[in-house]
Amino acid sequence: MGRLVIISNRAPSVDGSGDSGGLVVALKDALAKDGGLWIGGAPKQTDAPSPSLIFHHRQDFDIGLFELEPKLYRDYYLGYSNSVLWPALHGRVDLIDVQPCYAAAYREVAGRLARLIAETVRDDDLIWVHDYQLIPLAHELKALGVKSRIGFFLHIPLPDLQTFKAIPDWRDLARWLADYDLIGFQTRRDLGHMINIFRHTLRGELRSNGNMGIAGREVALGCFPISINVDGFRRLAAEGAVNTPAPSLPRLIGVDRLDYSKGLPQRLVGYQKFLESHAAFHGKVSLLQIAPPTRDDVDAYKAIRTELEHLAGHINGRFGTVDWTPVQYIHRALPRDELAVLFRLSRVGLVTPLFDGMNLVAKEYVAAQDAADPGVLVLSQFAGAAEEMPEALIVNPHDPQDIAQAISTALEMPLGERIERHDALYSHLQDHDVDHWCAAFLKRLVSVERLDVDGVAR
Ligand code: ADP
Ligand code: G6P
Repeated sequence: MGRLVIISNRAPSVDGSGDSGGLVVALKDALAKDGGLWIGGAPKQTDAPSPSLIFHHRQDFDIGLFELEPKLYRDYYLGYSNSVLWPALHGRVDLIDVQPCYAAAYREVAGRLARLIAETVRDDDLIWVHDYQLIPLAHELKALGVKSRIGFFLHIPLPDLQTFKAIPDWRDLARWLADYDLIGFQTRRDLGHMINIFRHTLRGELRSNGNMGIAGREVALGCFPISINVDGFRRLAAEGAVNTPAPSLPRLIGVDRLDYSKGLPQRLVGYQKFLESHAAFHGKVSLLQIAPPTRDDVDAYKAIRTELEHLAGHINGRFGTVDWTPVQYIHRALPRDELAVLFRLSRVGLVTPLFDGMNLVAKEYVAAQDAADPGVLVLSQFAGAAEEMPEALIVNPHDPQDIAQAISTALEMPLGERIERHDALYSHLQDHDVDHWCAAFLKRLVSVERLDVDGVAR
């Protein structure tokens, strides 16, 4: 067996610091164990990009960076990836911005990247492509004669067929997906949507082994919920907390990239409702929202930032006193060890996305808790994590009353119930950490029988 070659738009930082975003956080932990090569986009674009990959050797794995010129990068990353695919796959078809140059750039980047990869990989390497930015890659690699097995994992949700069809190139996307040997999803919800899309678009037929027969070959599909390094994160939190004083007031915490899918304004409105109806908590609780910038050249992201800052200011102006700030808002990334301690020292974790592939913050919050006096997780029913974490307080993020009620239930929950819920959540996580996720996907990819639908080996 050759190397594991991971390919994603976002690469980890070369010096190993300052990464936020579920994909990089999870994969760094997964790849650090067995090593391999990670090919990803360089952080800076240049007018004269290098014609080959730029390699960096790290202790844990190698990184190969590709560079793009600024216009191509904008149309591919800010344009097609984050102004068409991201909103569509998160069910926000109202935010889709379709421009012909976006789709062309998306294909161009996949084609260019495929040529660079084809020069580097051997047939016995295992190629694992990640996320919506690079869906056409298997198609392009196969066109260049690459024989390696190629798996794909979608970190974000796959919506239902009708929503998917709002993307002008939906037929192409379905065909490109069908070129992978194995496609992995976060949830059964997303897997079900894929089966339906393949049936409708490519006359796919579901087989008894769970694979689909499509256009003369078999494509394997599976559900592989992503996770975190549970023990590592728990240790980080426990060790850091030893020298950190507890906050003066019970704290609610939210940690999310400042993305419209995360339901941040809805969360603040829910908190405001809570303060309106629970005067006894005035001056007795605070909400810390950490929301680093992300994709801030896209208009929808500028708008969400303005809305959030307006709401935080409004709540502080309305309820705050000289001695009490109800909402603390930090608009930047923090080191992982600091984050772990903040989670541990917060009584309630608020994870209320409107739609989310998984949401690792939910898992990090649970992993960071003190098992003898754990905090309570409030979790959106629309986060992929809700399929695995029923012992959280599950809420409808669109309903401010529901969020307000969950905040009050969480703050008043007796110790016995907190421990019971935390034990159940933590023991599930321990058995399903990021190594488990990675091993399950790769085991399936290695074992995929490459047969055409007549049973002939390919
Ligand atoms: P997404 O992948 O959509 O960003 P996830 O919740 O799955 O959402 O993953 C986000 C990851 O980024 C988590 O590991 C989280 O701890 C990290 N992260 C989010 N905000 C920050 C921040 N302000 N500072 C550092 N890391 C952050
Ligand atoms: C989510 C996506 C990733 C992406 C990350 C951060 O986790 O699934 O593909 O890398 O957000 O977003 P960014 O656009 O900064 O890479």
